[in-house]
Amino acid sequence: MPDTTNDPAQRPAQRPAPGASPTHRYEALAETIVTLVDNGTLRPGMRAPSLRRLAAQNRASMSTALQAYRLLEDRGVLEARPKSGFYVASGSKVSLQTPAVSKPPAKAAPVSVGSGVLELLEHAANPNLVPLGCAIPSADLLAASRLDRFLARAARAQGTDYNIYTEPRGDEKLRTEIARRGLQWGQILAPQDIAVTCGCTEALSLALRAITRRGDTVAIESPTYFGILQVLEALGLKALELPTDATEGIELAALEKALKSKRISVCLLSSNFNNPLGFAVSAAKKQAILALLTRHKVPLIEDDIYGDIYFGKERPQPFSTIAPEADILYCSSFSKTLAPGYRVGWVASRHHMQRVLEGKFATTLCGPALPQVALAEFLANGGYDNHLRRLRRVFADHIDRMVRTIDRSFPRSTRVSRPAGGFVLWLELPEGFDSRRLFKQALEEGICFAPGDAFSASGRYRNCLRLSCGHDWTPRIEAAVETLGALVTQQLGEDSPECA
Ligand SMILES: Cc1ncc(COP(=O)(O)O)c(C=O)c1O
Repeated sequence: MPDTTNDPAQRPAQRPAPGASPTHRYEALAETIVTLVDNGTLRPGMRAPSLRRLAAQNRASMSTALQAYRLLEDRGVLEARPKSGFYVASGSKVSLQTPAVSKPPAKAAPVSVGSGVLELLEHAANPNLVPLGCAIPSADLLAASRLDRFLARAARAQGTDYNIYTEPRGDEKLRTEIARRGLQWGQILAPQDIAVTCGCTEALSLALRAITRRGDTVAIESPTYFGILQVLEALGLKALELPTDATEGIELAALEKALKSKRISVCLLSSNFNNPLGFAVSAAKKQAILALLTRHKVPLIEDDIYGDIYFGKERPQPFSTIAPEADILYCSSFSKTLAPGYRVGWVASRHHMQRVLEGKFATTLCGPALPQVALAEFLANGGYDNHLRRLRRVFADHIDRMVRTIDRSFPRSTRVSRPAGGFVLWLELPEGFDSRRLFKQALEEGICFAPGDAFSASGRYRNCLRLSCGHDWTPRIEAAVETLGALVTQQLGEDSPECA
């Protein structure tokens, strides 16, 4: 007899519907599937057992199995995909709202985020804390040992050849591999349009240095990644925070108004999946943003560090692919998908490469050669696309589990983002909630997360927090999210979510 203990469809229909026993056979079958979804055996995006298997293993007719799946489709638990079968719907049961559109001040101001961010970074590096703080994937999710082999091989074969200064642009083979990868989503780049940098942070910094002067104003999303704010602060730039929707990105009308009435030197936006909101901007909206910027002769710096971690069918295009002739400086790195510790990123620009290279030369001369050589070999021969496919599945699953855990352990007034990619979640609590107070309490419980005010140039979002889903989903992480939910409930003085 085959071993069916791990076969979801083989388990008996056991759980009656809450409050009442299913009266029909198809309802009982449907409940079997609901139980499997609830306990995580069947996860969002997974294919449900075929109708034939469900029917045979539960000794039901095909039409009963079909009736059960139609019921689950109506309830939003499953979705039918033509010629493919039934799949567990993603996010089907989350009832919390998404964050409201942000309303930052319509005035550019100098940035000051330094000390709050450093406090977060210190705690985020503490391995004893539950790691919900920094947007870093855990090492075991990255292709670390395979990449190490490429590094060791490069060092063994030609170590002394790489103990040199590279040209300021960086290793040519790596730049060629980066240009080749871009072709997959229609980005036409020549290796000489690319400069290898020390992570995306240096790419952003060099891009800003190339086209701004102290005191200039940079239009940004709000909330945005605190590293961007730190770079603006270090370069003496002002930030104009734009109202931003958690699912669609910046408000076009606000950008247009700002461009008409203010002196904006550059706009800095995420290409895909802003950190911390995770939204995907449609191609049409990207086109409209670029048309506005071009009309006002304002260049764009785009940060595409999360572009490869998409949960949809295909990789969304960056701005630079949508309008190849536009004045764009494209920034990215391998830090979120492969090797945060190698510190390898890049900036690509047709129009400003000379200034970028002058900046590179003046700051770090060039990057270390060996990690670049190892990465070039890995991109050519290491199975990067397979690795990315797995990583996307894993992060989508982590996000889904985290959202469900938040849904059942946080107060009903919590709003939570539904990212289209990346691996962070943004939570918004009612005005007056203090995430810095929660941060202190969480540290005492051995948990780290990112308080919301780190993501604003104007001290906003103290009622918000960001949780990272970059680590394997374990009972420890689940318990930490539940503890945060209890602490939030306590601070708000609300009833437990079950009573609400
Ligand atoms: C949006 C965004 N840009 C840039 C960076 C910095 O990347 P890197 O580690 O490659 O310097 C991060 C890191 O969290 C990020 O989230």
